[in-house]
Amino acid sequence: MEVVIAPAPELARLAAGAVEDLLRRRPDAVLGLATGSSPLAVYDELARRHTEQGLSFARVRAFMLDEYVGLSMDHPQRYRNVIDTEFAARVDIAPDAVQGPDGLAADLPAACAAYEQAIADAGGVDLQLLGIGTDGHIAFNEPGSSLASRTRIKTLTEQTRVDNARFFDGDVDQVPQHCLTQGLATIMSARHLVLLATGRGKAEAVHQLVEGPVSAMWPATILQHHPHVSVLVDNAAASRLQLADYYRGAYASKPAWQGL
Ligand code: F6R
Repeated sequence: MEVVIAPAPELARLAAGAVEDLLRRRPDAVLGLATGSSPLAVYDELARRHTEQGLSFARVRAFMLDEYVGLSMDHPQRYRNVIDTEFAARVDIAPDAVQGPDGLAADLPAACAAYEQAIADAGGVDLQLLGIGTDGHIAFNEPGSSLASRTRIKTLTEQTRVDNARFFDGDVDQVPQHCLTQGLATIMSARHLVLLATGRGKAEAVHQLVEGPVSAMWPATILQHHPHVSVLVDNAAASRLQLADYYRGAYASKPAWQGL
């Protein structure tokens, strides 16, 4: 696990750079897309590189982490719509190349199984962008999630609904109670995980993720078992890291050729 502590704009450039390096090596790569506020600056940077530098997503396929259950097709906070607005519509990715769990399916367990199959059929995810919840969730794997979980329906915690109310006019009652989410084992199958966290509100979750004992109580701690994780945090999100000086020194002395 590599921890990079840097100002937020630099973190976005690093994450976008990892995507670009991947696409230069493998133009038909499979990307894993997160929603929420953490990856937005990355999508801005990728859109800029597409427009100004010709970075192409024409052969890319992408899978989303999660989706609310029950939000109408045209709801602006339906994650599929958010990804279209923030990313897909701004680059040259094919419209049918982005998939997400179907939160409007009549048979939700079948939709989850189909989603797992679609990821497997695509050969798995090469690079997965991640945020982290203040309660340590990744995707919507809330505390208590099985460390071996696959895509399934989950109930959001009150904390997550309160945190996400800002996307729903500040009204927690508008935040759905249920979601479909890739499981922790699904996420662990991706080949490179790039997690972004900014702000003091994420400091405890980041400390647990990097330095805490692996536990379903802090679901993100499962990433300690992954061989290739990049944890990109600003000073505020890093403020509870016990080995922050070590991570800073290691990054400062990192060989230039290495990349994330
Ligand atoms: C969203 C997702 C969530 C968010 C997390 C942090 O697809 O998977 O795990 O990454 O809730 O959200 P923000 O970035 O809004 O703080």
